[in-house]
Amino acid sequence: MNNIFDSHAHYDDEAFSLDRDEVLSSLPKKGVTGVISCGINLLSSYKTLKLANEYDFVYAALGIHPEDAREERSDDLDAIVRFLRTEKKAIAVGEIGLDYYYEDAAPRETQIDLFERQLELAKELDLPVIVHNREAHEDTLNILKKYRPQGVLHCFSGSVEMAREVVKLGMYIGMGGVVTFKNARKAVDVVADIPIEKLLLETDCPYLAPVPYRGKRNDSSLILFIAERIGEIRGIKGQEVADITCQNTKELFRL
Ligand code: NI
Repeated sequence: MNNIFDSHAHYDDEAFSLDRDEVLSSLPKKGVTGVISCGINLLSSYKTLKLANEYDFVYAALGIHPEDAREERSDDLDAIVRFLRTEKKAIAVGEIGLDYYYEDAAPRETQIDLFERQLELAKELDLPVIVHNREAHEDTLNILKKYRPQGVLHCFSGSVEMAREVVKLGMYIGMGGVVTFKNARKAVDVVADIPIEKLLLETDCPYLAPVPYRGKRNDSSLILFIAERIGEIRGIKGQEVADITCQNTKELFRL
């Protein structure tokens, strides 16, 4: 397969610390034409940007993830904005959003405030956003309706109805390994329903490896299995899924 574009990865993650260069340099030979690696805080955004500047096919999204909302310092966002303004390979604000899954997460008001500030920044900088939403469907959708950003809801976990609302807002749906899991009813229904022009492929690596690698470390070359599964659901070839979603990713992120 070729034309694989991974719209969401975390190559700064310590899961790659022993062989990061090996993994990244092997990707183009495996059909990967592009990767967007996402920062989750200031340090991670900085490391991600460094990778993007080292590898032609890697792009960087910079932002503060809701799981890191509690640790945010007042000048972290200023530093991220400076990178977004000046660095050519910094192409999106992300990953940002809401995560109500963990009991020890930052309070919802703190998360919402940080999410909204970053949506405003994206608007100001005229950049697309990469949105994380876990167990926060209603608040996420309401905030997106308020700000109407260009962007993607990554690792989409909502219903078909929610997917339709997201598409109506002009945003994209990111799908990854979950769609290959045996119990993936909701993701399968969403993939079958949404216009394919609004679909992006992603790994969220090192997490969420697709079947038959479920539970192992994920990387962008494994998108092959996600594209094949989506092709099966939509009745088209996996390669066609890769071709179309590659184009979609380039359009959204203006690459
Ligand atoms: Ni992620």
